[in-house]
Amino acid sequence: MKNRLARIFSQKSSKTVMLAVDHGYFQGPTTGLRNPRETITPLLPYSDCLFVTRGILRNCIAPTTNTPIFLRVSGGPSVLGELSNEDITTSMKDALKLNASGVGVSIFVGEKNEDRTISNLGRVVNEAEDFGMPVLAITAVGKEIERDARYLGLACRIAAEIGAHIVKTYYCAEDFEKVVEGCPVPIVIAGGKKIPERDALQMAYNAISKGASGVDMGRNIFQSENPVAMIQAVRAVAHDNYTPDEAFELFNRLKDKKVVSSVIE
Ligand code: 5RP
Repeated sequence: MKNRLARIFSQKSSKTVMLAVDHGYFQGPTTGLRNPRETITPLLPYSDCLFVTRGILRNCIAPTTNTPIFLRVSGGPSVLGELSNEDITTSMKDALKLNASGVGVSIFVGEKNEDRTISNLGRVVNEAEDFGMPVLAITAVGKEIERDARYLGLACRIAAEIGAHIVKTYYCAEDFEKVVEGCPVPIVIAGGKKIPERDALQMAYNAISKGASGVDMGRNIFQSENPVAMIQAVRAVAHDNYTPDEAFELFNRLKDKKVVSSVIE
């Protein structure tokens, strides 16, 4: 377990930049991920971990990659159905066969199938413990629910209590540090909908300043006008203490190809 986690979190900064590319599991060919192989391949060297489904892993990621894989193992409903109606879709055996460094399960606190999704998490943690497999819980948030510190704090704490080793949640501007304080395991933030690059870098910076252990970011990287430049800018914030302004300047320089390599470790 510790060895798998050590592959994800940098020994130097203790932070992680996970790349989330699992969106197709409920919303099909998402903008920026219509051709997963094309999008993901150039980002792999800059990702501390890839968060992905087994279908995309098997079909679109070279088996020779050294990037650790966290496998999404929950799913079921599509974007046309009741999103909280999730079950476990991928077995621990398959996760082990695919050499995953961890698995990810969504929970839907406050949604129709809250109890089942929390039980899903518990079941996966029970199995994962036998194999030293870290479990990432994703606190999925329905459209009707406000993403404030009270709600996010509740969802993150429940995930940790059930046994998640890492929790992925959303950033909230007010009292995010209280969300972190109430959760005894590392928190990484999802990026959410695409926003301007400078704003996304500010969000990553704020979250990390308030105690997040990194990001598990998707659309704000792969929908960027220059995904490879953007992921390097996010890394600069997470691993090299860049301010949002410095990271945005790096993004612009990389985007304009004025430098060829960056600050990545
Ligand atoms: C969906 C997920 C996604 O991985 C998560 O939303 C991260 O992606 P983004 O940064 O695009 O929000 O778990 O349930």
